Amino acid sequence: MERAWWKEAVVYQIYPRSFMDSNGDGIGDLNGITSRLDYLKELGVDVIWLSPIYQSPNDDNGYDISDYQAIMQEFGTMEDFDRMIEGIHQRGMKLVMDLVVNHTSDEHPWFVESRKDKENPYRDFYIWREGKDGKAPNNWGSYFSGSAWQYDEATDMYYLHLFSKKQPDLNWENSKVRENVFSMMNWWCAEKGIDGFRMDVISLISKRPGLPDGPKTPEALYGYADCANGPRVHEFLKEMNQEVLSKYDLMTVGEAAGVTIEEAKRYAGFNENELNMVFHFEHVGLDGGKHGKWTDKRVPLVEFKKVMSDWQTELDGKAWNSLYLSNHDQPRSLSRFGDDSPQYRVVCAKMLGTCLHMMQGTPYVYQGEELGMTNMPFADISEVKDLDSINAYHELSEAGLISKEDMMCFIRLKGRDNARTPMQWDDSENAGFTTGTPWIGVNPNYKEINAKAALADENSIFHYYRKLIALRKETPIIVYGHYALLEPDHESLYVYTRSLEEQKMLVICNFTKEPVDYVIPEEFSGAKILITNYDRDEAKGTIEVKAYEAIVLMKE
Ligand code: NOJ
Repeated sequence: MERAWWKEAVVYQIYPRSFMDSNGDGIGDLNGITSRLDYLKELGVDVIWLSPIYQSPNDDNGYDISDYQAIMQEFGTMEDFDRMIEGIHQRGMKLVMDLVVNHTSDEHPWFVESRKDKENPYRDFYIWREGKDGKAPNNWGSYFSGSAWQYDEATDMYYLHLFSKKQPDLNWENSKVRENVFSMMNWWCAEKGIDGFRMDVISLISKRPGLPDGPKTPEALYGYADCANGPRVHEFLKEMNQEVLSKYDLMTVGEAAGVTIEEAKRYAGFNENELNMVFHFEHVGLDGGKHGKWTDKRVPLVEFKKVMSDWQTELDGKAWNSLYLSNHDQPRSLSRFGDDSPQYRVVCAKMLGTCLHMMQGTPYVYQGEELGMTNMPFADISEVKDLDSINAYHELSEAGLISKEDMMCFIRLKGRDNARTPMQWDDSENAGFTTGTPWIGVNPNYKEINAKAALADENSIFHYYRKLIALRKETPIIVYGHYALLEPDHESLYVYTRSLEEQKMLVICNFTKEPVDYVIPEEFSGAKILITNYDRDEAKGTIEVKAYEAIVLMKE
């Protein structure tokens, strides 16, 4: 397989609002990030992905952009940005920016113009339709609850918004939209020197001609907008590749809601000239139910192994995987896939990290994951800031589908704000995140779980992640080896091998707190332990795999 820096890299995602506040306004900012670059260097990550830092009215925390070439005031200035990227590059790291071009903010000048009148030159930058019998043009629902259409009085028409009504969808059919987007991307690469893009919901940019109704399921209040992998998406991405991406040495990852393995081979295929990799959602959809993610279902291990393994084996040699268990839209991975109880938190976080980082693909660490940060005990909806959770809370409870008490329980398990509480730096007030009042509550467990404590403890999750990241750099089999699943039906253990030429690795992870006996395959009898989260010198014959134990064996 052809080597590439982005295949060998580990990415660290920063949610700027919650990472580090430098000026005491309670909101994380760019100078805060710059002040913590040595911490990231020590962890050993190669790439920093920043969630959006552009000018935005913050309806969706920056995923609603009103100026793609300006910095959000709360986050700082363009000079702060220049200093930050210089600091990143000086330390040998790279910067990937979020690219949110399925939609803009309704306060973007293009939309301000577009909504004025039907003849406006920007009218066709967005998706406008007449209503049907006084109602929305079709039955599509927004990802954030309610209809995906907003009526606009000025012209007596509706505009499409797959997300909030302050996030109108751009019309990618219009070549002027594409030209504007590409020139803005070129500016960030050529003038600002960024090293790549994480592309927000990029699988949704091509809408089906005629915008047909979606299927109505009995549970759904609205039909859903089946916009994923629309008919022109690959054409648009190839054009983007030609006009922008191919001109620089970038890393690109597309957030691809609704992507299948077959589709991923097109988005991220080695010879497709589109993107380097995509984020799929199959493994984070395994604990969903009839009301989407709003349930208390746990991820079933056997299904999880199947999904991960299918992606590993099917893309091998054809396309590249991204590896993630958490990000700013998902609850904390330790609480969701593992065990965040005080007894098992540390060992379990190390096991989850091992399981993911030993796979083929580019691993993503979400801020605080390396500390074993956990979900937040939100007591009341007034503590929740995320419009996705707030809208669902009202819509589902008012429709009588889920009680308010149950919704609060589901928000504690699945809500996006679990990942958005401030980064826990130390045990001082507000976890050292801010000297002011944080924009969202700090998790009360910061006295025990924080970066200062983790750095001082050589057995911490932080130092274990550091080892995982360092190992990947010196061990090509971890990056390029072929993957094979063993014990597919085992309900406690996740066991897989990697192989590259003469070398072979065995990864054993216990996803439960019950110890389990396991017979090490004969071919690994003389193998050495590469990394493990318990004190264990050897693993041969029949072993007892302890609570949340992870063992990686290497046979040369
Ligand atoms: C996906 C982003 O990750 C999420 O945070 C955002 O709300 C939606 N796209 C809309 O931009």
